[in-house]
Amino acid sequence: MVWQLFLSWVLIGFLLILFFVCIVLRVIRHYYKFPIPSFLTEAIDNPIRRRFLQKPMVLADRIGLKPGMIVVEIGPGKGSYTKVIAERVLPDGKVYAIDIQEAVIARLKKRVTEEGIPNIIPQIDNAHRLSFADMSVDRVFALACLPEIPEPVKVLREVYRILKPDGLVSLAEFAPDPDYPLRRTVKRWATDAGLELHSEYGNWFSYQLNFKKGPSET
Ligand SMILES: C[S@@+](CC[C@H](N)C(=O)[O-])C[C@H]1O[C@@H](n2cnc3c(N)ncnc32)[C@H](O)[C@@H]1O
Repeated sequence: MVWQLFLSWVLIGFLLILFFVCIVLRVIRHYYKFPIPSFLTEAIDNPIRRRFLQKPMVLADRIGLKPGMIVVEIGPGKGSYTKVIAERVLPDGKVYAIDIQEAVIARLKKRVTEEGIPNIIPQIDNAHRLSFADMSVDRVFALACLPEIPEPVKVLREVYRILKPDGLVSLAEFAPDPDYPLRRTVKRWATDAGLELHSEYGNWFSYQLNFKKGPSET
């Protein structure tokens, strides 16, 4: 009985510390945005998340991928989600996996070579100024990435520019991320960039929003 009481208090204490750490991290990240270090992207992409919170197959199923499509993934991390998307656009589709950090791209290039994945092209790029031509991309995918970039609306304007007229951008978030935004925040960013909601999935804890191009402002 005493042990049960003790363990309950340990658990409550642990959860309170975790909650406090999350709040502190959120406050810091609110004022100071920077790309999370490459080794942390490795930790985020873990089996618990892939199995229970954000299943790569499920997220890929929601984007309407077809063979031959050109996809840009912003902030691919370890590449687990990139790999599933790449399989869906074979044989002649491509996934350009772009990140601002050299270490992330170097690690993904190594994985792509080791696993012989023919259609993932990892490259350094800044989401604020994407190096893709206007209306050249079928899908843009960003997972737990947009809220860590200082100017999300500017990024989404770039996404608007590179998307083909029938293209989609898919933004997925999950709550343990210290940068986690509410759905309505992401919808506001997208609307400000000229995008319109196409479809939405998930719950308060983990969601995925797909947007299409709205009418051009010019
Ligand atoms: C939290 S990680 C997400 C990794 C992966 N999508 C996942 O969920 O496992 C966000 C990634 O966005 C990248 N990033 C941050 N700012 C960027 C920018 N301006 N342009 C391109 N990538 C950026 C970071 O380097 C980092 O690798």
